[in-house]
Parts: sequence; structure tokens; C-alpha cells
Amino acid sequence: MDNTSQILARSAELFAGKRVLLVNPVADGLTAELPADWHVWTWDYSVWLGLNGRLDTARLTFSHLCPDVADIDAVVLIMPKALERAEYALAQMAPLLAAGCPLYLTGEKKGGVSRAEKLLQPYGDQCEKLDSARHCQLWRAVRNATPAPFALGDWQRSVTLELVDQTIELVSLPGVFSHGRLDEGSELLLDEPGKLPAGRVLDFGCGAGVLATALARRNPAARFELVDVDALALYCARQTLLRNAVEAEVYPSDGLSDVHGRFAAVVSNPPFHTGIRHDTSIAERFFERVTRNLVPGGELRIVANGFLKYPGLIEAHIGPCNVLRENTRFKVYSAVAPG
Ligand SMILES: C[S@@+](CC[C@H](N)C(=O)[O-])C[C@H]1O[C@@H](n2cnc3c(N)ncnc32)[C@H](O)[C@@H]1O
Repeated sequence: MDNTSQILARSAELFAGKRVLLVNPVADGLTAELPADWHVWTWDYSVWLGLNGRLDTARLTFSHLCPDVADIDAVVLIMPKALERAEYALAQMAPLLAAGCPLYLTGEKKGGVSRAEKLLQPYGDQCEKLDSARHCQLWRAVRNATPAPFALGDWQRSVTLELVDQTIELVSLPGVFSHGRLDEGSELLLDEPGKLPAGRVLDFGCGAGVLATALARRNPAARFELVDVDALALYCARQTLLRNAVEAEVYPSDGLSDVHGRFAAVVSNPPFHTGIRHDTSIAERFFERVTRNLVPGGELRIVANGFLKYPGLIEAHIGPCNVLRENTRFKVYSAVAPG
């Protein structure tokens, strides 16, 4: 089991026989091993895929919103990567609890769990560290006065981006990549004027949907599909498309797990670090598999930090890799699938 699950398992008596809302867990055996009436909220589609079948569907929610579970005895948040995502989650979890019920927060020390007191303070009293083991901490606060009901609009940020050829309204939520601004790498990819082919075009790791929105307007013969592993990103991408009057399909996928058929082009600013450690494994797996989703002659166009060793991987799995554009930090690469 993951370290965060192990620290919860060490305090199994806190949850035994209780109705517990568990938020942002790892897809491991925790809910099977600990006897409690678990209800899980995840925004990570890979976790949903991992727990689907192990937990009853009524007890497992993949969404940008917390499920409205009644009569909860306790809530447990596993510290998300982004602090602001923890605040977003707690603001939805706390109103589900009756006063006097416990809110737990656990996570790795390196992942910011030591901010627990500050995070729990708006919702609970008697905040205390219950355990510290396996590089993790477990904190508890007791819910105090009734918190304000959650309103998504209070957390949603909308910004106007001025591109050379168009204005885009971008909708974003806490912890969504480049929250409330345009990433420098994505901007460089959008500076590239080269047309995309007609037909299906995939935006892999769409985030708030900025790439597909701008490129769909420039390439009216392209039919965009947007995928991301993060439910908040998918919600934001749908909102961004809507506000900019762009029609496209948006659906969850862990890597290319739910991407079927072949595309005339795939565009991406691929994820290169997840969590605390730098990690390019998702991008590497994407390069390995993406040719299966490209028509012969179909284009892969990505932007990445210049220091990442992607050209070799692209050449190994797709074809000759051209640099379309670069600045001091980023490069836009293009490769064409063998045909
Ligand atoms: C660098 S961001 C790019 C976001 C957006 N395209 C942009 O340019 O602003 C990478 C995106 O990949 C998503 N991602 C991370 N792991 C993923 C996975 N396994 N499958 C699909 N998407 C993933 C992240 O949630 C994030 O939104």
C-alpha cells in the first residue's frame, strides 16, 4: 500500500464501522483492507480506473465536484499536489459533516501536509497531529461552526488571453495546469502558424483547453477531441470551449487509455512532472503509443522544455523530429507518422 494508506491503516480504529468520505486516495487496497463504509471522491481518472470494480459504483465518484454523501461520520483528505486544490476540496468536504465530526488530513511531509493546521483551521478546532510515519503525517480537526456552502463560482477563475490572431476566455480551477494564465510553452506552440490537417485532431493533456480552443478556430476543418486525466481540467476545458463558441469532444483518459481510432494530428504540451518528483514517464508512454492513434502521415506536434530528451524518443517511436520553433526554455517539435 501507498505510504498515505499505510498511515491511515495504522489508525484503523478511527474509521472502523464509520461512514467515511475518502478524498484523493491512491488506487490501492486501502478501502478493501480497512473495514469502514467508504465513499471515495477522486478527480484523477487513473485512480477511478484503478478502483472501479473494487468499490461499488455508487461509492466511487470521478468529478470536479464532491459527491453529496449524506450522514457522513468523518472525512479524510489525502494531500493533493497543489495546496490550492486541498483548499478547494476541503471547502466542499467540510459542509457535509455535522459539527463535532472529525476532518482528517494526511500526506507526505514533502507534499506539504505540514500545512495541515492552516488548511484545517477554517473548518475545525482542536487541530492535532495524530501520527507521523513513513514520511507522512496524519492530522485531525473537529468540525466547528457551520461552514459556508460551497459555490463553484467562488473558485473558478476566468481570464482573457490576447493571442496574435484572437482573444480567448480561459476558465480555470485550482490545481489545473497554469491556473489562470497562459503557460509559456503553450504560448510558443500557439505562436507556430503551420496549419493542422483536416479531420480528427487530439489535444492530449488538454488542461483548461487553451490549445484546442485556439487551434480549432484557426483550423476550421479540424474536429478536436480533448483528453485529460484530471476531472477539474476536463470541466474547465468544456467551459473554455463553450465560452469561445468552439465545438469539440471532451473526455477523460489516462494516457491514451480511452483514445480510440486514428487522428490526422495530435497536439500536446505533455505532462512532465507529477507530484513532488520530476517524472517524464507519462510523456514517454505517450510517445510509445501515439503512433497507433495517428493516420499514416498524421502529425504529432508538441511543446516541451528544451532540456527534456524527447527528440530521441519521438524519432524512435514516430519518425524524424523537426524543431518548428524554440526560445530559451521551450521547443516545439513536429514528427510525421510513417505512411
Ligand atoms: C503541461 S499540462 C498542459 C495543459 C494544456 N494543454 C495547456 O497547454 O495549458 C499537461 C496536462 O496533462 C494532464 N495529464 C497528466 N497526466 C496525464 C495522464 N496520465 N493522461 C492524460 N493527461 C494527463 C495534466 O492534468 C495537465 O492538464
